[in-house]
Amino acid sequence: MTVLKETPKDFAREKYRPQYHFSPKENWMNDPNGMVYFHGEYHLFYQYHPFGTTWGPMHWGHAVSKDMVEWEHLPVALEPDEHGMIFSGSCVVDWEDTSGLFDGNAGLVAIFTHAKEVADGNHIQKQSLAYSKDDGRTWVKYAGNPVLEDASLKDFRDPKVFWHAPDRRWVMVLAAGDWVNIYTSPNLIEWSYASSFGKEEGAHLGVWECPDLFPLQVDTSNEKKWVMIVSIGDDPQYEEGSRTQYFIGEFDGEYFVADEPEAVRWLDYGRDNYAGVTWSDIPEEDGRRILLGWMSNWRYANQLPTESFRSAMTLPRELTLRTTQSGIRLFQSPVKELGTLEETISEKVDVSVAGNYRLADDLKTGTLKVELTVDPTDSRHFQLVLPTTNGEKTVIGYESDTSRVYIDRSLSGENRFHEDFSGCHAAYVPPTGRPMTWQVYVDHSSVELFVNDGEVVLTDLIFSEGVVQGVELTAEEGHAAVSKLKVARIRSAM
Ligand code: FRU
Repeated sequence: MTVLKETPKDFAREKYRPQYHFSPKENWMNDPNGMVYFHGEYHLFYQYHPFGTTWGPMHWGHAVSKDMVEWEHLPVALEPDEHGMIFSGSCVVDWEDTSGLFDGNAGLVAIFTHAKEVADGNHIQKQSLAYSKDDGRTWVKYAGNPVLEDASLKDFRDPKVFWHAPDRRWVMVLAAGDWVNIYTSPNLIEWSYASSFGKEEGAHLGVWECPDLFPLQVDTSNEKKWVMIVSIGDDPQYEEGSRTQYFIGEFDGEYFVADEPEAVRWLDYGRDNYAGVTWSDIPEEDGRRILLGWMSNWRYANQLPTESFRSAMTLPRELTLRTTQSGIRLFQSPVKELGTLEETISEKVDVSVAGNYRLADDLKTGTLKVELTVDPTDSRHFQLVLPTTNGEKTVIGYESDTSRVYIDRSLSGENRFHEDFSGCHAAYVPPTGRPMTWQVYVDHSSVELFVNDGEVVLTDLIFSEGVVQGVELTAEEGHAAVSKLKVARIRSAM
């Protein structure tokens, strides 16, 4: 029998394989973990089951990149041990060796949840440390694990840690039931409870998971606000499945106070952006705050129709706070590094769309970016239609009377694997007094829509048999004034 040896890039050609979104070479992945920048590398760890394509005993997978575009896959970083599986968590650079683990040098510390299965199928969850003295290539579990436990809480996980310079100590935000606990520590080893946030704030439609907390400048002013991101687990009562909310407020090193405690602000109005957190230790000269989410939804994640791998991450997105007519909002924009993959195919200005307008007819590409600036208010219904070579289509639209933008994936392709997958997902677009901008990124199994510079974002998985054939615009009842339209192919980053 001839055994065919896999060439290194074979996995890249697999059906539905994203070409410029991170996905594991094989097997199951969920949350991004431990994202940290150190010695010129962006590290990405992730919840990983190395022996199967569905969720199972959790490890930390690992990859590194110099630009968040091309990734090098590295061996598994953390494996389960006597304390249990390795659930989600974060990494920091311990610059001043506060932990004493690095002989006075700087090194990487991972702070994660150990989850140990107990008889009734539940997990006991405790926080632990591991450290690396060789740029994340090998890891040693801290001998005194766990470093934080609370037997009274069943759901107690996903530590995100950062250095709070004014108090010269570490801060941890941790999901506890359906709120967030905040702890502080001088050395990453001894932790003291500081406060809780969220018992009365935001949405409580499921258990809270994967919190993050960080400061951001408001617009380009000197004003600073703190942003708390919190994911909410899947609850069968709500059709959206798992999703992520955010709060804007103040943090004094101990207490986070939301400016609008009642308000529920969703990070993404599509179905497939979960457990997103931001990179640690991006140098000050760069100054960006960059988020990566798991591009899936617990409702159907285990049933997605890929074969040897399951799940991908969203595009890395730069976060900013901007003042809008409705108040300060969190904006997301794909990182500029992705621009290196773009090859413009067609560019048009001042197109008046009435009825149907076809731009590119013979694209035949699975990876695509469409950018447009449009005033659609003189038509009732404006659409960007992306038909595939297989007779499928993904439709992105805007309805003037409700001011809602949507992605409709009901005709995009394979959707029989779960009854809740097919559908149309919409979001209200607040008026700006200016034409609306769309940036649409299509990869082999996803579409991401950034409206008005990323004030409103929708991320949806799609599983088309064909690749995108062309780009069509339609305007019903009236016309849509498209002042800019640009179509680019995106080169594979694999
Ligand atoms: C979120 C999550 C985390 C947990 C991990 C387990 O998707 O449920 O709360 O740490 O996944 O894989």
